[in-house]
Amino acid sequence: PRSVPHSARSLTTSVDRVAVIGAGQMGIGIAYVASKTAGVDVLISDRSASQLSKGLHFVDTLLGKEVKKGKLSNGEADQVRSRIRGARENGLEGGEFADVDLAIEAVSESLPVKQAIFSSLATHLPPHAILASNTSSISLSTLAASAVSQSGENRASQVVGFHFFNPVPVMKLVELIPALQTDPTVLATAREFAERMGKTVTQSADTPGFISNRLLMPFINEAILALEAGVGSKEDIDTTLKLGMNHPMGPLTLADFIGLDTCLSIMEVLQRETGDCKYRPAVLLGRMVSAGYLGKKSGRGFYNYDATPVPPPP
Ligand code: 3HC
Repeated sequence: PRSVPHSARSLTTSVDRVAVIGAGQMGIGIAYVASKTAGVDVLISDRSASQLSKGLHFVDTLLGKEVKKGKLSNGEADQVRSRIRGARENGLEGGEFADVDLAIEAVSESLPVKQAIFSSLATHLPPHAILASNTSSISLSTLAASAVSQSGENRASQVVGFHFFNPVPVMKLVELIPALQTDPTVLATAREFAERMGKTVTQSADTPGFISNRLLMPFINEAILALEAGVGSKEDIDTTLKLGMNHPMGPLTLADFIGLDTCLSIMEVLQRETGDCKYRPAVLLGRMVSAGYLGKKSGRGFYNYDATPVPPPP
């Protein structure tokens, strides 16, 4: 197969059309801010049609709240909404992505799923496009290596890490992670676009967990180990950090908010890739995930979020 070196290709330096792959809480938040703050057209796709319509409905909810608070007029909200379009196809085929300048992948933390998406992006995006991932722990250099099109074009130099924080509309940070292969033009354009989205950018090397999760996840895991060891109740552990250290939420609440499956998978990446036993996930964390107690999104984690009343005992 033919291989085109990146020096022979002209890379985008301005972003007008964005694609977001994955309409979960992160993908929808990214699409919302890209339209609302950066003012670009956004195409959003998800392999599940029901997840996509749920996500688009959430955009309407967010916009409704902004109008109610008087932060946006009805007309402005309509404009933000009109720039966001759900993809017709479940996959990337069908030519809908042919004019995209920047694609941001925001699917769950599975290496094979992300690798398949990067190979598909390399095939279906125009030659100038940037291929970004919102991964919170997977190596960008590994993902970049899978950005090869069906006809053999290597797009590794166009891949960059673009790590957002939940809730995306509120959190002011984007962590930018160059892969070993990333072209400096791609890095600079990605930084500029993050700033257009109103975010402050920090840059991290492509190491396990980057800056953010290398520090955050062991902290959350330590709180779970403390709970396991009976050091304090979940409420006392959370309140200690919330009121004693001025954290907006305690570590166990934050774990529920992020998703316990995500926390576990990040700890597993840290442990596997460093070989350091200090990153061993708490047994309780694994058990909670096995039980399907994934946090807020599943209705139950360390706390209960299910509005359904528990039936009284017989
Ligand atoms: N989407 C959009 N806006 C939201 C929102 C959401 N999901 N949740 C809250 N907001 C907005 C509210 O509308 C409100 O806006 P306003 O000031 O215009 O009225 C504002 O945020 C504050 O909300 P609330 O008053 O309801 O609640 P709080 O003051 O408790 O703030 C919070 C909520 C911002 C989530 C705060 O508790 C917080 O900062 N928590 C920590 C969040 C955090 O650490 N996130 C990072 C997680 S790690 C991560 O994402 C990385 C990954 O790799 C694991």
